[in-house]
Amino acid sequence: MQDTPTSDLGSLKQEIIAAASAAEDERALESVRIAALGKKGSISERLKALGSMSPEERKLAGAELNALRDGVSLALEARRAELREASLAERLRSETVDVTLPPRPEPAGTVHPVTQVWQEAIAIFADMGFSVAEGPHIETDWYNFGALNIPPEHPARQEHDTFYFYPRPGSNDRMVLRTHTSPVQIRSMETTKPPIRIIAPGRTFRSDSDQTHTPMFHQVEGLVIDETTHLGHLKGTLEDFCKAFFEVDEVKMRFRPSHFPFTEPSMEVDIGCAWEGGELKIGGGDDWLEILGSGMVHPNVIRAGGLDPEVYQGFAFGMGIDRIAMLKYGIPDIRPFFEADLRWLRHYGFSALAVPSLAEGLSL
Ligand code: PHE
Repeated sequence: MQDTPTSDLGSLKQEIIAAASAAEDERALESVRIAALGKKGSISERLKALGSMSPEERKLAGAELNALRDGVSLALEARRAELREASLAERLRSETVDVTLPPRPEPAGTVHPVTQVWQEAIAIFADMGFSVAEGPHIETDWYNFGALNIPPEHPARQEHDTFYFYPRPGSNDRMVLRTHTSPVQIRSMETTKPPIRIIAPGRTFRSDSDQTHTPMFHQVEGLVIDETTHLGHLKGTLEDFCKAFFEVDEVKMRFRPSHFPFTEPSMEVDIGCAWEGGELKIGGGDDWLEILGSGMVHPNVIRAGGLDPEVYQGFAFGMGIDRIAMLKYGIPDIRPFFEADLRWLRHYGFSALAVPSLAEGLSL
């Protein structure tokens, strides 16, 4: 124990400051602070002892001890700041992230073939100047049938295996799950001033199920409306699409006369293919595969879309996304598309990091 509260203050200060600079981290420094300034600390004990002094002595000794306490506090704060900075520098040094490392040891998750082909189709048509349009899955009878020149008793309705339903019990406003993406033709004409060049990829629904049909499937609709577009443009557009999509230089195509109520004339399009060693080769060969329906938009449909068929004309087509995915990637059955089987997804899925583009390749 010191003789008086103020004896040897100089060496006490030096001792504390030496202990502070020897402290290697904030914890050790905190112990130094408690030993000096804590309740039972060396400086605190001396301050307590002031109580037993005479008023004059206390005045002098008090000033000295207060100066010591303030000086030590400042020195401790300065050392704390130093230690903090050093530990931050050390963390920054040791916690560097190598941004060139792969994100995971093994990529997890794949892009579904439907998403892949959907994006491939967008990449190809966007390059030709088409934009992407959308419409609702739940449609009115008018948009799905009436406006597309399919009146209530038309036999084409039977072929669509339509899901009908009433949104409210007891109501008469029967709705449909759209059976094709063609209603987007009408919606686009209603909202866009020609020239119109859109594709509309999306979900479609028909009450049908076997190896090549599921109740929910995907289509991509195409629509071009202006004053001069003709059948030659339709054929050229679809030929360019097929070459780009199947990634071949030449593709044999056959435009077969057909019938859709919403196009006149109507054509179904087949592409040439051949079976080579159990594998389907697209482009040449003696076999044909139907891939889409198309035609020149019927005047009644242009009128239903709010445009004058005396002024405007154009073409439309509709293609099954799942179907062309099966053809391009050799997938024999459509049902597992929608079964969420991880083994199937890993086998047929695509890398999430490879975004399809014409510049970098559609399906790398
Ligand atoms: N909507 C037709 C179908 O689902 C395809 C089609 C679209 C045909 C546009 C001609 C024009 O089968």
